[in-house]
Amino acid sequence: MPLPFLAHVYYTGYPTWLPEPLRLLKVLGTVGAVTLTKWYTSGRSNRSERNMHGRVVLITGGTSGIGAATTLELAQRGAQIVLLTRLAPTDSFLVDYIDDLRTRTGNQMIYAEQVDLADLHSVRQFATKWIDNAPPRRLDMIVLCAATMVPPGSPRVETAEGVEVTWQVNFLANFHLLGILSPAIRAQPFDRDVRIVIPTCSSYISAPKLDAGLDREGWTPQTAYARSKLALMVFARAYQKHLDAYKRPDQLPMTARVVLVDPGLARTPGMRRWLTRGSLWGLGLYLVFYVFAWLLLKSPEMAAQSVLFGVMESSLVRVPGGRLIKECMEVDCARKDVDDEEVAKKLWEASDKLIERVEKQQAVKRAKAKKEREKDEKKKEEEQKRDEEKKKTAAQVEEIEALVDAITRGKAKAAKEAKDGKQTYKKETQETTKKGGRKGNPSHLHPVFFTDKLRRPPFHIVAGPYTSPIAHGYVYQDGQRGVTRL
Ligand SMILES: NC(=O)c1ccc[n+]([C@@H]2O[C@H](COP(=O)([O-])OP(=O)(O)OC[C@H]3O[C@@H](n4cnc5c(N)ncnc54)[C@H](OP(=O)(O)O)[C@@H]3O)[C@@H](O)[C@H]2O)c1
Repeated sequence: MPLPFLAHVYYTGYPTWLPEPLRLLKVLGTVGAVTLTKWYTSGRSNRSERNMHGRVVLITGGTSGIGAATTLELAQRGAQIVLLTRLAPTDSFLVDYIDDLRTRTGNQMIYAEQVDLADLHSVRQFATKWIDNAPPRRLDMIVLCAATMVPPGSPRVETAEGVEVTWQVNFLANFHLLGILSPAIRAQPFDRDVRIVIPTCSSYISAPKLDAGLDREGWTPQTAYARSKLALMVFARAYQKHLDAYKRPDQLPMTARVVLVDPGLARTPGMRRWLTRGSLWGLGLYLVFYVFAWLLLKSPEMAAQSVLFGVMESSLVRVPGGRLIKECMEVDCARKDVDDEEVAKKLWEASDKLIERVEKQQAVKRAKAKKEREKDEKKKEEEQKRDEEKKKTAAQVEEIEALVDAITRGKAKAAKEAKDGKQTYKKETQETTKKGGRKGNPSHLHPVFFTDKLRRPPFHIVAGPYTSPIAHGYVYQDGQRGVTRL
């Protein structure tokens, strides 16, 4: 096809329907340059393979950006995923996210545990729960993708525990988590090939020295982020040494490996927040110039390739741990202090001390809050009791009043009836006497009809304790008839 076309151009000249050659060259050149740039900035793809089926993976930051792309890939390969997220297990986003992942990957072994990296107590709660198991739980991999970046121009932020947020989330929480999980990692069988994969960032190169500290005046979002990544790298290498120093009961060498990964710059939510300065106008500009972000930054899926390489590359288990991976290959660290044992020792000790201090303070606060809560609950209970007693007393008073009222009414009624009865009796007596009979009042018919209201002997016969009411009646009846028989 191109040859006949070129022959046609050669013999008959340049066709009129084609744009002029210079313009064509420009268009082709532009398309070529864009394609090349895109190809270059997308980075390399992971070619390593590893059977991930059934492997237990703990992953932080698995709900966003590079972490989410890594999670999807590992879930598709059948790994058992435990997402460590700050979201509550009942959070609707998280529930939908896990449901969606399960449907897309056909893998039901995807779970979530609540771990807020900005809260050291939350990290401790999860990690101690994890190691509190006999025999030790299976653990194949820990991927630490979670990170935070305060947008440029924003003020310094502290966690509720009083630690600068970038330092705590990006470094201190990971230090704390791996510190507590260390026994769980060391207890894995020799042939398990456990990996601790830690994404870092090339910004570590520009970070100030760790022992110099970072005071409030010198703090900027960029330096805080870079410093946290440098600290993470120093710790990662020291942690590998800590693992290697462990003497296994079976005398076999330690095969757990720490792998540092620089994923490259990617269009993730974190990066978007950084570029837009977390503002609406920034987001507007980002959308207008999105083509540049698309061209120069990797997709989260491509950025995840180096992380997946760190997870799957089999050669990594045969070399000492703590390697730095970039573009799916091993690269050297650009800073010497990453391997400085003195720096690592100081960092480790200072971090231990900081965690101890913060945890103690928080424990006191929690104890105080608990006391206050218990006090409040007791107060509420007492108030409730008092209310119930008041209600009970009111009900009793009401009942007594009703009783008194009933008695009063009864008495009044009885008095009225007695009065009416007396008059009736008089009338009837007169009538009966007149007629010489006993009609009208049934008590005249038989002594048992003699009722209380009529129990008043008309003829001065006093009813004593030994007189029978029936006899009394006779008295009355007989009295009526003028016969007294007592
Ligand atoms: N993107 C890049 O260009 C780039 C470049 C170099 C290195 N990296 C590194 O690659 C890793 C992933 O970056 P990314 O851009 O994909 O990140 P991202 O999109 O910003 O996601 C960060 C993740 O961390 C989680 N997270 C933040 N604060 C947390 C906390 N307090 N507790 C628990 N989880 C918390 C977030 O959870 P929520 O979803 O709940 O907020 C989210 O899942 C990071 O370590 C980053 O430093 C990224």
